[in-house]
Order: sequence, then structure tokens, then C-alpha cells
Amino acid sequence: MRTPIIAGNWKMNKNPKETQEFLDSIKGKLPESGVEAIIGAPAIDLTTLVAGAEGTPLKTAAENSYFEDAGAFTGETSPKALSEMGLDYVIIGHSERRQYFKETDEDINKKAKTILKNNMLPIICCGETLEQREAGKAEDWVTGQIENAVAGISAADIAKSVIAYEPIWAIGTGKTATADQAQEMVHVIREKLASLYDQDTADKTRILYGGSVKPANVKELMAKEDIDGGLVGGASMDPESYVALVNYQK
Ligand code: 13P
Repeated sequence: MRTPIIAGNWKMNKNPKETQEFLDSIKGKLPESGVEAIIGAPAIDLTTLVAGAEGTPLKTAAENSYFEDAGAFTGETSPKALSEMGLDYVIIGHSERRQYFKETDEDINKKAKTILKNNMLPIICCGETLEQREAGKAEDWVTGQIENAVAGISAADIAKSVIAYEPIWAIGTGKTATADQAQEMVHVIREKLASLYDQDTADKTRILYGGSVKPANVKELMAKEDIDGGLVGGASMDPESYVALVNYQK
């Protein structure tokens, strides 16, 4: 049984004061069980986020970390330090990081391993462009991204990890993949995990959909067999909308 996840990704938005205000607004409004509520915030907000999440059902995520624990890597974020601060998850391989910061599948694989070594869990993002979809190359592209991202990672670690399928054409565009399109690709990813590992591992790994998820469409997406949750950008920043998303079962 896979516990559903609603994970916010604030991207480069909110300062520590705004983070605290958000936490105050959602206090007592998250489900105690049945859904895992996660917020991914910029590095500068994580101290506030972790302190505010303590003693609540909220889980916390960084939006990136480096693949070394420490050293002369100016401006990077240490996964070891994130773990020591109490972070639960790190989002890696977001299409914005691949596109603007030139992250490669190899970087993402190294990051995933370092995150797991530090007792946190990676949320590994993948997704195709509109051109790739229109050329009929989306499945090969996405399954290739997954194969590279998980190379050398054990079945037990992958079963605990999270994958997020985010078609690039649906991010921040208001253009959601239809629930059927999302289900189809998430299923393909699960089949890929079954072929790389085994069916049991594939059945345990949670796979999210991301791209213009909002309170109005979350139920339809979550009703799909293989979709285990949402990675939500814009609609996760307003407390009311986030509370509505995590309470989609009510
Ligand atoms: P939107 O929900 O704003 O489309 O962003 C999706 C996303 O990129 C989450 O990581």
C-alpha cells in the first residue's frame, strides 16, 4: 500500500518570514494520516520550515543538494548538513535545474546516492518537452532518464524513494496533462522499474505527477491507479490551496 504524497515545490519563492506565515496558516489543517504532506522550500527557508514542521505531520524537502557532503564547492548545499538539520526529502532533477543549471542525468544519479547515504529520500524528477512528445519520443526519453537516475541504487532504496513525472509542457502553463496522459506515463515508469528491479519494488515506489496540479484537478489525477500524488508548484504557495490539496480525500 503506497501512502499518497502531496508535495509542494515553492521554487525560488518566499523568504523565511513568509515561510513562517505559511506554517502558521496551515497549522492543525493537515491530515494526521492517509496522506503525506511535504513542502519543498528554498535553502534559505529550510531552518524555519523544519522548526515549524516539528511535532506536526508536515514533512520537509530541500529543492536541491550537491553530490558531495562537504568541501570547496562555493554556493552549493550540503546533503549532510540538510540531513543534520532534519530534512526528510530532497527534490532532484527538476526540469528547471536541468534546463537552467545544466544538470545531467549523471549529476542526478550521484545526488540521489548521496541523499540516500545521508538518510534522506530523493524525489527524482523526470519529464519530456512538447517537441519530444509530439515526435513520439516521450516514453523513451523519460524511461531513459529514470534508468540513468537510479543506476547503482539498490531495490530497497528505490522502493523508499519517490519519482515525479513532470511533463515540461505542463509546468507553470496551466496546461495539465489529462489524467489519462499522466496515468499512462506513470504506468510506463512503473513498468520500467519492474524491468530494472522487480515487480515488488515497482509496486512500492511512489510516483507522482506534476504540472499545473491544483485543487480543481487533484481528485481526478489521484483516482488513477498508478498516480501516487502530486508535485505542486504554483498551487502550493497559497496556504488555503495547499490545505485543500492535502485534504483531497475529504
Ligand atoms: P506548477 O504546479 O506551477 O505547474 O509547477 C509544477 C512543478 O514544476 C512542480 O515541481
